[in-house]
Amino acid sequence: MEKQEIRTFGRRHGKKLSPRKLSLLANILPAILPKNIENAGNLILEIGFGNGEHVRDLAIRNPESIIIGAEPFMNGVAALLSAITTESDNQIMDEYKRIRIWPDDVRKILHDTNLRFNEIWVLHPDPWPKAKHEKRRLLNADFLNLLGTKLAPHGQIIIGTDHWEYFDWISQQVKKTALCASFPPKSKIHTRYAEKNMAGTTEPKYMILTNQ
Ligand SMILES: C[S@@+](CC[C@H](N)C(=O)[O-])C[C@H]1O[C@@H](n2cnc3c(N)ncnc32)[C@H](O)[C@@H]1O
Repeated sequence: MEKQEIRTFGRRHGKKLSPRKLSLLANILPAILPKNIENAGNLILEIGFGNGEHVRDLAIRNPESIIIGAEPFMNGVAALLSAITTESDNQIMDEYKRIRIWPDDVRKILHDTNLRFNEIWVLHPDPWPKAKHEKRRLLNADFLNLLGTKLAPHGQIIIGTDHWEYFDWISQQVKKTALCASFPPKSKIHTRYAEKNMAGTTEPKYMILTNQ
């Protein structure tokens, strides 16, 4: 990660984890860190996956792809691990075997690897609504430019948020980059924050960014 990058996420740890989740973090997570995947074929990245509902959907909908989920909130990481393993013997279920988890700030893995992604998803990024926190917004022009350099040919960045003011702010940031934006009508993608709808809007808005 570049030195001095400002923190874009809230807590790293929440309420106490169950013994099962602690065991999954200790024993399963190390085996599914995103290592040795440079030549693994189609790669999909989800940034800030929360509890990982959409990472699981991606794995099911893209059986030929490796799905990397990045999330520094360890309770979210543990929730995803719990959902992709069997309770009886903590084995990863077949349909989720292509999921890899980066349990940290996504910017570290982006700066430290040469991975190229066919899709990069960012759903309900933290909106940091107070003016004094605006600098914590992840989807600023610099970060969007970085994502653009990490796309495979014809790759896409898909962004969705119910926080319309942040959506408009991101659209303004895109104008300062070399990326092209389109705003296709998209049916609501189910994630925990889409359901929470803390912004109180009628629906999330989505945009797709490409290098062409
Ligand atoms: C509002 S939550 C949304 C979670 C999920 N996408 C959803 O829709 O339910 C935003 C998530 O982004 C994560 N996040 C913020 N900055 C990040 C970063 N630099 N790298 C990876 N994840 C980040 C936070 O930890 C948080 O879990």
